[in-house]
Amino acid sequence: MKIAILPGDGIGTEIMAEAVKVLAVLDLKFETETALVGGAAYEAHGHPLPEGTLNLAKAADAVLFGAVGDWKYDKLERQFRPEQAILGLRKHLGLFANFRPAICYEQLTHASSLKPELVAGLDILIIRELTGDIYFGQPRGRRVAIDGHFPGAEEAFDTMRYSKPEIERIAHVAFQAARRRNKKVTSVDKANVLETFQFWKDVVTEVHAQYPDVALEHMYVDNAAMQLVKAPKAFDVVVTGNMFGDILSDEAAMLTGSIGMLPSASLDKSNKGLYEPSHGSAPDIAGKGVANPLATILSAAMMLRYTLNQPEAADRIESAVKAVLSAGLRTGDIWSEGTQRVGTRAMGDAVVAALSGK
Ligand code: NAI
Ligand code: MG
Repeated sequence: MKIAILPGDGIGTEIMAEAVKVLAVLDLKFETETALVGGAAYEAHGHPLPEGTLNLAKAADAVLFGAVGDWKYDKLERQFRPEQAILGLRKHLGLFANFRPAICYEQLTHASSLKPELVAGLDILIIRELTGDIYFGQPRGRRVAIDGHFPGAEEAFDTMRYSKPEIERIAHVAFQAARRRNKKVTSVDKANVLETFQFWKDVVTEVHAQYPDVALEHMYVDNAAMQLVKAPKAFDVVVTGNMFGDILSDEAAMLTGSIGMLPSASLDKSNKGLYEPSHGSAPDIAGKGVANPLATILSAAMMLRYTLNQPEAADRIESAVKAVLSAGLRTGDIWSEGTQRVGTRAMGDAVVAALSGK
């Protein structure tokens, strides 16, 4: 087994160092190899996703990714911007299923923007389809309207589309994930208005016949947005398209408090995947040693669970993180009165110590 380690830019290098330390202490049988990505790769090789990095990612069983980007690259041509590395990796690795868990640790309920009783113990999983929908549908562009409300006016258009196999494969992923959890899937659509999402609903229902042990409910996206803030714990696995998933997963992230706590995974058809914190490179705090490494450490746990088939090791990491929070250690983003403020390295050290039973 081989893990490609791509720290990236900004706090990416700081948080990745802690995740690598945590993996090392588990004493599992795999190799790691590190490569440059994002702005760091652009500086060294003139491209945010150099061939060597891409080949390493393709050859590896899993990719652990930090974060990329910095304001100083904002003026570069689009193809050279650090963020292009993520899009390139998604495309070349065939990553189509984005897993975004929203977990509210009981020690951090006060950090949520919702009432503690609504989020205490929250543990839901949003699965966003990554390759289809209005993001990539053709045709798209600008033109002069020949019909509509303002014929002759300048207009822009995108195309929302999903093919049956695209919906089928993400539905299978969702039902299988639900089997490992609480056996309930909520499929989010807009079937009342959009043909694409009536089709989505039909196909998800068809696939569901193969998973009689999992409950399926359908929900319109506008209602799902409301229910996420009204009764988020009523969800278990939420599966939806690319655009609704983009929005709902960010909404769900805010239920939990800090983005510095939230891992994510993007998987291909054989469960190979790219694992990364949900946050970016945080240039505002980069180099200060204060970033929260837990989202990256928890991403490494997801990698062990979903790709490397080491669920016990994943459980151990997650328990160690809870133990460290229970002991009162906090980075700045999750700090509150009465807890102990620590930096990136001390937080990583504490997780390592909890894992070693110290
Ligand atoms: P960001 O997630 O980097 O930062 C948003 C806010 O959250 C900042 O105040 C930051 O200090 C804080 N924050 C983020 N992670 C944290 C952590 N681990 N510990 C403590 N605080 C944390 O998003 P922003 O500012 O919109 O983007 C900054 C750069 O990151 C941009 O260049 C953007 O394109 C890039 N980006 C990269 C992503 C990736 O690599 N997958 C995802 C999102 C943004
Ligand atoms: Mg988003």
